[in-house]
Amino acid sequence: MKYMGHKGKMLPILGDILLHYADGSERIADPFCGSAAVSWFLAENTDKEIISGDIQSFAVARARAVVERTEYFAPDQMIKSWFERANVLVEQVAGHFPNNLRSIEPNLTEPKQIKQVVTQSRKFCRDVLPVVFNDLGGAWPISKAYGGYYYSPVQALIFDALRQCLPSQTNMRKVALAALVEAVSRAAAAPGHTAQPFQPTASSAKYIIEAWTRNSWNLAKNAVEEMSNRAAMVKGKGIVGDFRKTIARLNKGDLVFADPPYSSVHYSRFYHALETVARGVEFEPEGRGRYPSIDDRPSSEFSKKTTAMNAAKQLLDECSEKQATLILTFPTTGASNGLEANDYVEYGRTLFSDVHMEEVESDFSTLGGNKKHREARQVCNESIICFVP
Ligand SMILES: C[S@@+](CC[C@H](N)C(=O)[O-])C[C@H]1O[C@@H](n2cnc3c(N)ncnc32)[C@H](O)[C@@H]1O
Repeated sequence: MKYMGHKGKMLPILGDILLHYADGSERIADPFCGSAAVSWFLAENTDKEIISGDIQSFAVARARAVVERTEYFAPDQMIKSWFERANVLVEQVAGHFPNNLRSIEPNLTEPKQIKQVVTQSRKFCRDVLPVVFNDLGGAWPISKAYGGYYYSPVQALIFDALRQCLPSQTNMRKVALAALVEAVSRAAAAPGHTAQPFQPTASSAKYIIEAWTRNSWNLAKNAVEEMSNRAAMVKGKGIVGDFRKTIARLNKGDLVFADPPYSSVHYSRFYHALETVARGVEFEPEGRGRYPSIDDRPSSEFSKKTTAMNAAKQLLDECSEKQATLILTFPTTGASNGLEANDYVEYGRTLFSDVHMEEVESDFSTLGGNKKHREARQVCNESIICFVP
């Protein structure tokens, strides 16, 4: 999954370091699990209990699909019956509108025509679909908030139907929900990190059609197939909440991998569509990005310049109190929340008996950049800091 600060690419080095320090521990916490790339790696490659946390529930939904499941399964039957149930719902809605809900023509290229289709789709999702939804009951948050924006009406409808019809068997339900998060992420008609949808302008209109013609069923199916092939060696746990809640579950000698935010913009501003599908609850969209209201979006003290240093210190305090080893990744310099790797190192030296650092070249997202002053991605050095009690 495309995710800001995703550590998947660093795993060849970071993974070795984590495996080395995991040796003496019973549990490993990943309290800022994000895309869950590191949690999955640890679950698949160690015989430790992995505890994955994040303030965003979609991140934990992804982690749970693997860390809480120790058995592989053949996905075909699950996909078939899940899709059959969802398709009944889709047909119930589509039956009312044989014309409006036909697929978007992939060969639509003229910006003017695209704009017309987009305008009609928005109106349709805003004014017409909710009448049918009212009769059917159930939650339709993707169609109501994002239909005609990030997703075509048909894509949105399929995502909502799949969300309502998740399998009931616990493990399969976890995989299905995580797969849906992946599918919603891959289908979004948005530049960069899903903060705002493409608008039907002369230059961007073509990207809307390209995204709207992605097949929601196939995206979900591919994601289930990929995840069903993964399982934890030991059953772990996913926790939605602040990092303190995850670290509280550790004992002396356990290991923490911490990858806290480095940006001064909250993650929840960018990933609200994923959070919406994970929660499955309708809301009143706001602004160009069609976000939930600010009170409804998880906010992080690491993403406010005034509180970031204090949050960093508390993270180090919590790990030190648990006598846990901490492996922390952070951009060496230039993070927009005002911190740098050295801030962690200096405070950490007052709490841990050994602190050492490795640097790897990486590139990190600046949350879209602003074209004039910064590129969307910058090459930087990422520090891997080891704090040993
Ligand atoms: C740099 S990302 C983690 C990326 C992850 N390691 C990966 O490989 O995808 C930071 C994550 O911290 C989460 N977060 C922010 N503040 C938090 C807090 N106080 N407690 C727990 N998670 C938090 C964000 O939602 C975000 O997913």
